[in-house]
Amino acid sequence: MSTQFPGAATRALHSASLSGQPLEPHSILAPIHQTATFVQTRPNDPAVPHTYSRCSNPTVSALEARLESAFEARHALAFKTGLAAISTLFFTALRSGDHVVCGAVVYGGTVRLLRELLGDFGVQVSFVDATDAQAVQAAVRPNSRLLFVETPANPTLAIADLGELERIARTHELLFAVDNTFLTGHLQPVLGTEAGAPYAGERQAEDVQPSGPGTARGASDAVLLRGADVEVLSTTKYVEGHNSTTGGALLTQDSELAERLFRRRATLGNIQAPFDAWLTLRGLGTLPIRLERHSASALFLAEQLTGLPGVRSVHHPFHGARASLATRQQRAGGGVLAFELEPERVATFLGATKLCTLAENLGAAETLLTHPATMTHGQIPEDERAALGIGPGLVRLSVGLEEPSDLLADLRSALEHAEATVRVQREAASGSLESSTPLDRTPSESDLAEAEPRVTRARLESQNKAGGAL
Ligand SMILES: Cc1ncc(COP(=O)(O)O)c(C=O)c1O
Repeated sequence: MSTQFPGAATRALHSASLSGQPLEPHSILAPIHQTATFVQTRPNDPAVPHTYSRCSNPTVSALEARLESAFEARHALAFKTGLAAISTLFFTALRSGDHVVCGAVVYGGTVRLLRELLGDFGVQVSFVDATDAQAVQAAVRPNSRLLFVETPANPTLAIADLGELERIARTHELLFAVDNTFLTGHLQPVLGTEAGAPYAGERQAEDVQPSGPGTARGASDAVLLRGADVEVLSTTKYVEGHNSTTGGALLTQDSELAERLFRRRATLGNIQAPFDAWLTLRGLGTLPIRLERHSASALFLAEQLTGLPGVRSVHHPFHGARASLATRQQRAGGGVLAFELEPERVATFLGATKLCTLAENLGAAETLLTHPATMTHGQIPEDERAALGIGPGLVRLSVGLEEPSDLLADLRSALEHAEATVRVQREAASGSLESSTPLDRTPSESDLAEAEPRVTRARLESQNKAGGAL
């Protein structure tokens, strides 16, 4: 600041140290460029890479460069939320009259976006069981443009075969997008790289020929796989990982598509804010080590939960019929599992945990419990939810970074409490409380007072009516 403009009002607005350089040029962390605009020496100055923070911002660019490096993507774009990223993808890839083939079990907000918003703009959608390649193939129409899937699916953890799905997408020239929020490219590399296979353990022989544009091939014919065209991430989850902010990202190897996404993001105005990008960048640095711990703890709990009172079944990528597929295409199981309880135990159980917290997020350091039927997927009609395996007894657990034995103790105690409470309620209802046989763990008066759930069934139901926080 020169003494040329010494007025107090001027000095209050223009610090002497603001010479266009970061205040701390040797700072180990990228600075937060909390600015709406950038100084230009002349109109359209090519030396100024950023002009306005709705289009690009140095802190956001620092995050994008790190996302590219972390997930071996040629291009990454950061958004305000995961849904902002997904909607930008849809508004870039689709036109009125186009058709989308979408996995039936995907994040509830993605369903709402496709059904309600894109539907109003003349986009058609078919939701199909993505674990059934034949059903996906059968759903493709002449006007299909996009195949959008999640694997593992939210919240059932169903595993879709990425190789099979990509083969269908390539055969019919569909854009292939994978929401990889649950694992990220660290545990499930979905983008092809020049050097490596698109999916761990899955690649067609190098000698097969790619299908040319318009080539009509059967889905079973050999098609050169190059990986998904777009990887979608809600960075709100594992990438940021600390429940500190929301964010989303799109990653692609396709420069032309990246350019179109960049322009559409500026048009829609949903780029991530600098501080949120900075938090996401900071979280990203510890992602691999966190994912290893999340995965190990989730696997441990999935094994232990199977024998606990009231647990009818456990959903985890490495358990059940699709386990061998999951172990082929995933480097680890990830930090999310789900389990089925008798529906009447759910509210008491959710109210009785002390360490695991009921909340709508996943992928963060703190262990979170979610009741998908009334929370994340509450707006999907009940009969559809039931058909998708999202019943009233399903509980999702995002396993955090706490000591796994402490988590197990908390879950065990809440499950035992739910069992005892339900038994007392049943006996009371049948008038046999007095003559009941002793319980494994007899609930005392104070037990039952504590059983007054922090989240009651009535609250879950009213949240459902309100639509949940999709
Ligand atoms: C798999 C998946 N994709 C996308 C989203 C949307 O992300 P956001 O909440 O950041 O908009 C979520 C949110 O829960 C999700 O679980």
